Order: sequence, then structure tokens, then C-alpha cells
Amino acid sequence: MAVNVRSSRFNAGGRLLSSRRHARSCARIRLVFCQGHDPAATVILRWVTIRWSEPTRHATLWETAIASPEDTAARITWVRAEQARFERSALEDEPLADAYEAGSRSAAPPVDTATGTALRFLAASIGARSVVEIGTGCGSSGIWLLRGMAPDGILTTVDTNAAYQDFARSVFTRSGFGPGRARLIRGTALEVLPRLTDGGYDLVFVDADAVSYPLYLSEALRLLRPGGMVVFNGAMVTSAEPDGPLRAPDPREAAVREVIGRVRDEEGFIPMLMPVGEGLLAAIR
Ligand SMILES: C[S@@+](CC[C@H](N)C(=O)[O-])C[C@H]1O[C@@H](n2cnc3c(N)ncnc32)[C@H](O)[C@@H]1O
Repeated sequence: MAVNVRSSRFNAGGRLLSSRRHARSCARIRLVFCQGHDPAATVILRWVTIRWSEPTRHATLWETAIASPEDTAARITWVRAEQARFERSALEDEPLADAYEAGSRSAAPPVDTATGTALRFLAASIGARSVVEIGTGCGSSGIWLLRGMAPDGILTTVDTNAAYQDFARSVFTRSGFGPGRARLIRGTALEVLPRLTDGGYDLVFVDADAVSYPLYLSEALRLLRPGGMVVFNGAMVTSAEPDGPLRAPDPREAAVREVIGRVRDEEGFIPMLMPVGEGLLAAIR
């Protein structure tokens, strides 16, 4: 049984006594739902908790108190504030800020800074020396990856757009990553990837052309060394509409779901779905 302590029964005029009486009569209460910072709710919750923490027959019935929506909103606000601090500190770096600025004004939207932080972390966590990126864009994700990679690591990054890659090259250089650290290859990923060495890479990051994600997963599995990591951006981009007879899944969404299903269900993957930015799907194989 759940008791909503803001129901009229409990908070009408803040009648604490009647609430107590009600709570006392509810020997089967298993959950107390308190909304907001309602003082009456807090008192009742404390009372119920104390009472049921006594070694009575009711004690075993106490299971949990669910955090209120307001608490959750407060926590979300706090998380957002922390995130904003991260973002500000990342964008104090001029070349990265320029990459973001250019990417945001182009058709190559950059990964957000939370995603960038995760990419840097993932690259560093496996000591990545050789990374393939699909979707150079204006270089934001490349800078994050290079920052996490070993000091002599090489980023191979593929994009169809020469202008984006020229810009990315300039921000890599200004960030201190010279030509020896980044190999920029122009072309479609499905033309370029087959030319790269089997088992030669520690990490493959995919941020382009979601319809092709299943094909990129197959290519990544060929390119990665044992224990290497594949990471897909945009894993949680989905329509606000639920699935149903009136909504055919968007082909990009269907492709992303296929990849999520494969890394979740096929043997040999250690997957992780991270709710940062548009969602990062990472898997070690
Ligand atoms: C979302 S943007 C990449 C943003 C970049 N990762 C960043 O954080 O700045 C996607 C990029 O993929 C490139 N692209 C699209 N289709 C591609 C394909 N088939 N092969 C290679 N690159 C492609 C686009 O030109 C675009 O620059």
C-alpha cells in the first residue's frame, strides 16, 4: 500500500493527528510517498520511520520512502549546475571553444562537453594509442579524444567534408596536436574503413550517419584489437512519440536500436549505455 501524505486525508489544514491515526491504522503500509518539502509530510515520514524501525511486527513492513519529484528536480538542477561548470572550464580553452563555435554553426554539430569528457575518459582508461573516428566535423570530439590518448597516440579521423577537416586540422594544431598526432582522411567511412588495418586500433568512435551504425559496428569489430572499445554517439536520440501502429521507426532510430541490441545480446561484449549528451553506447570486445 502507498500513502500519499499530500492527499487530502493528510494535509487538509495540516491535520497531523488524523494523519497519525491513519498511519497507525495502516499496518499494511509498505511505502510512503512524500511530495515536496511539505513539513507535515516530513513529520509523518519521520514518525512512520521511527515507529517502524522499532522491533515490532510492523518493522518488516517498512520498505522504502520514495524521493519526491521536487527533490528530484533539485538534484537535477544541481547536476545541471555541475555540468555547466564543466562546460565553462572546457570552453576556456580557445581552440576547443573555436571548434565548438564552428561546429555549432555548421551541419556538423559537435559532441557536447559532457560527451567530450566521457570520450577523453574512455580513451585514457584504456591507454588508447590508435583511435579511429568516424565524423571529424570541426574537430571537437577529436580534441577530446586526443587529450585522453597516450602522448604518442594517433587519431585517424574520417569525414566526407574537406572544409570541416581543414578547420579540424587547424584546431588540432592550435591545441598542441601536430600533424604526427592526427591523420585526417577524406571520404565516406564505408570507403575508407576497409583500407585500415585489421585489429590495429584500440578505440573506434562513431559520430556520423546513424543509418550506417550497424555497418560501422561490423567494421569496428574488424578494426579493434582484442579488448578494444567501440563507442557510438547519439544512442539515446529518439522520438517523443511511443512506438505504435501510427509511427514507423525513423531509419536512424531503427539502426541505433539494432546496434544497441547487438552489443547487449551478442556474446563477448561488455556494453555500457551512458546518458550523457545524446547518449553514448560503449562496448568492449
Ligand atoms: C555530427 S558531425 C561530427 C561532429 C564531430 N564528431 C564533433 O564532435 O565535432 C557528423 C560528421 O559526419 C560527417 N559524415 C556524414 N556522413 C559521413 C560518412 N558516410 N562518412 C564519413 N563522414 C560522414 C559529416 O560531414 C559531419 O562532419
